Amino acid sequence: MERSRIIGTGAGIPPRILRNADLERLVETTDEWITSRTGISERRICSPGEDTATLAEAAAVQALEAAAVDPMDLDLILVATITPALPFPATACLLQDRLHARRAAALDVSAACSGFIYGLAIADNFIRTGMYRTILLVGAETLSMITDWRDRNTCVLFGDGAGAVVLQGQAGEAGVLSTHLYSDGTQWDLLVAPGGGSRCPMTSEVLEQRLNTIKMPNGNEVFRMAVRAMEDACIAALKHNRLEISDVDLVVPHQANSRIIQALTHRLSLPPEKVVTNIVRFGNTSAASVPLALDEAVRAGKVHEGDLVLLVAFGGGLTWGSSVVRW
Ligand code: ACO
Repeated sequence: MERSRIIGTGAGIPPRILRNADLERLVETTDEWITSRTGISERRICSPGEDTATLAEAAAVQALEAAAVDPMDLDLILVATITPALPFPATACLLQDRLHARRAAALDVSAACSGFIYGLAIADNFIRTGMYRTILLVGAETLSMITDWRDRNTCVLFGDGAGAVVLQGQAGEAGVLSTHLYSDGTQWDLLVAPGGGSRCPMTSEVLEQRLNTIKMPNGNEVFRMAVRAMEDACIAALKHNRLEISDVDLVVPHQANSRIIQALTHRLSLPPEKVVTNIVRFGNTSAASVPLALDEAVRAGKVHEGDLVLLVAFGGGLTWGSSVVRW
């Protein structure tokens, strides 16, 4: 049987930087508070003319180039996002148009910060069943568009960006070894944009009350659940593959808060140098965070052929999941 091998990665990062000092002028906060409580110093924010599809395109072009794959050879395009460029059609369709990937099917995946892991599971299963051979998977977000810039509890956390991978079915040992997905819909209201959908349609009142923006009524609870859920997902992945944590060469966790990553690192008894972090420069980019961090690690030469890479994420829904990839 063929495995889904990651044959190229890429990133799409808007040039505009929003530093903690800029946020000090927007809300009552300090660089010291943001840095010590979250590990974030700056994040990227879209400018006019940029949107989720343009970021996704930049990441996709890099990943296709690294993979030496022609867009016409793509069978499927998946975009994981909770901030699509348009309410509909799917950002994946806009991306297909921009790439001229005329043969591909295209759809979006909505699983918040876990979107990339969900997309990876979908792509892997399409490849394993033999339905598709070559798949482009992008995690792309413009969270700045649904951030309440007057809410200091949330506006310091998020950023924009995109990360992409090209997967291809290939014989051999390398590729996705497992994916584990979980969700708990009873906790949907822990991370939510309450307005702008069919339950609470967009009106001037919704906009005035900023109900179309991200609400996180209990950040502490999200923090605790993120640590526990990501630990459980990692343990499930290791068990399934009969691996010890010491067998893993690199862990790429969702970048939500450096203290969440530190707690996970401690609980799994991981040496910190095996854990990829770039939250200091990008903040939480939701579905883009894992592929962005993975791409950085790949381009920095931290991932070698045969390495075991553990990917793990947690986010709104609630959703969480993990994947083990042999490089
Ligand atoms: N600047 C200064 N003070 C602040 C800020 C700020 N930006 N934000 C909150 N505070 C204050 C609070 O008001 C509170 O003040 P009080 O004690 O007077 O009430 C104090 O700081 C402490 O607040 P806590 O919420 O206890 O701070 P905590 O250390 O828990 O950090 C944080 C808050 C960063 C939000 C943390 O809980 C966290 O990271 N949670 C998880 C977020 C996350 O993982 N989200 C992931 C999913 S996102 C998605 O799916 C799209």
